[in-house]
Amino acid sequence: MKILGIESSCDDTSVALLDITDEKIEILAEKTASQIDVHKKYGGVVPEIAGRKHAEKIIPLVDHILEEAHITKPDVIAVTSGPGLITGLVVGVETAKALSYLWNVPIVAVNHIEGHIHSVLIGLQQSDFSNQNKKKSEVRSPKSKIDYPALCIIASGGHTELIFVSDVNKYERIGGTVDDAAGECFDKVAKLLGFDYPGGPKISKFAEEGNPRAIEFPRPMINSKDFNFSFAGLKTSALYWLRDNQLSAMNIIPYKLPTGIYGQTQEPPTINDFCASFEQAIIDVLVTKTLKAAKQYKPKTIILGGGVSANKKLRETLEMTIKQETPNSELRTPNLKYAMDNATMIAVAAYHHAKNKEFTSWDKLEANPNWKITDFTNF
Ligand code: KG4
Ligand code: ZN
Repeated sequence: MKILGIESSCDDTSVALLDITDEKIEILAEKTASQIDVHKKYGGVVPEIAGRKHAEKIIPLVDHILEEAHITKPDVIAVTSGPGLITGLVVGVETAKALSYLWNVPIVAVNHIEGHIHSVLIGLQQSDFSNQNKKKSEVRSPKSKIDYPALCIIASGGHTELIFVSDVNKYERIGGTVDDAAGECFDKVAKLLGFDYPGGPKISKFAEEGNPRAIEFPRPMINSKDFNFSFAGLKTSALYWLRDNQLSAMNIIPYKLPTGIYGQTQEPPTINDFCASFEQAIIDVLVTKTLKAAKQYKPKTIILGGGVSANKKLRETLEMTIKQETPNSELRTPNLKYAMDNATMIAVAAYHHAKNKEFTSWDKLEANPNWKITDFTNF
C-alpha cells in the first residue's frame, strides 16, 4: 500500500511516500523542510510564522516526493490532524483534503503522538545515513512489528505523555504533563542561557562535560501517586539559580576539571555543571515515572519517542534501568533521524488504520489542536 505522509504540526514541513505491507516498510521518498532558522531568533516557534512557512513549502514538497518516487498518486493519504499548532495543522490537513478530492484517494487522520510511537518501526541503520548514494529503502524485518502490550513515553517540545498500548491502535493515556512539556522546559531554560532554539541538543552537549550532581534541582512530582509530570517548577528553579549565580552562555565560565573527588569539588558550578544537573533532573523524572508505569502495566515493549528521545543520556539511563528493574520489557527507541517530527512516521502509523478502512472523508476532516490519542470520534 503506497501511503503519502504529511506532517506540519509544529515547525517541520514534512512529506514522505512509503510502500507498506505486513512484511515491510519501504521508504520511496521523504523530505523535510525545517523552519529552525526562522524561529531560532525568537527562542521558540512563532505560530503565525510557522503557518505561513508551511503554506509556502507544502505543495512543492508533495510535488518533489511524487516525482522522486515516480508515481502520480498514492493509495492513501496520511495526515497529522492533531495535536499541535493549529496554524501548522490546518495547512497539512487542508492540503490533504484538496489532494483527496482531486485524486479520489482516502485519508487517514493520524494523531501526532501515534506517529512518534510508530517511529521505532523505521529501521534504517545509522550507517545508511552516512552513505548518501545508497537508496533510501530498507526494512527492519525481524523488528518490523511492536510486541504488545507496549508502554510509550513520548517526550517532545509539545508533549510529554505516557501511553499504554494494549494492542495495535488500542491506546490508553495513563499520564502526561500538567504544565510544560519536557522539551519545552529544555528549550525555555536554554533560552535563559542564551542558546538558540531548539535548546535541548545544546544543553545536552554542554551537559556531557558537566557534573550532574553539582546543583540540586527539584524533581517535580517524582513521587506522586499518578503517572503525571510537571516541568514548570523546574524551569522556574533554573531561572532563580541563574539569576542568583549570574551564569549564562554570554559569560561562559570555561570548563575546568574538578579538583576534588567528582561531585565534591570546591569550584563554583560551571555552565556545563548547570546543564548536566538540569538535564539529570528531567531524566530522573522521566525514567522514574516510566519505570513505575512499567512495573504496574508489565509491557513487553517500552517505547521512548519524541524529540527528547534524541537525548543520549536519557536513552542510556532508561535502557540501564529497564535491564535492571523490568528485564522482561524491551526498550525500543527511534533511529535519531526519526526522533524529530517527520512524515515517514505518520505514514507508518496510518498503515493499520488504512487496512481497517478507518478513513475520514475530505469534507469531514478538521484539524484538531487538542486531539487526544484515545479519541477517534473527533471528526
Ligand atoms: O518531536 P519534536 O521534533 O517536535 C515536537 O513534537 O515538539 O521535538 C522537538 C523537541 C525540542 O524541544 C528539542 O529541544 C527537543 O525535542 N530535543 C532534545 C534533544 N534533541 C531534541 N531535548 C533534549 N536533548 C536532546 N538531545
Ligand atoms: Zn513531535
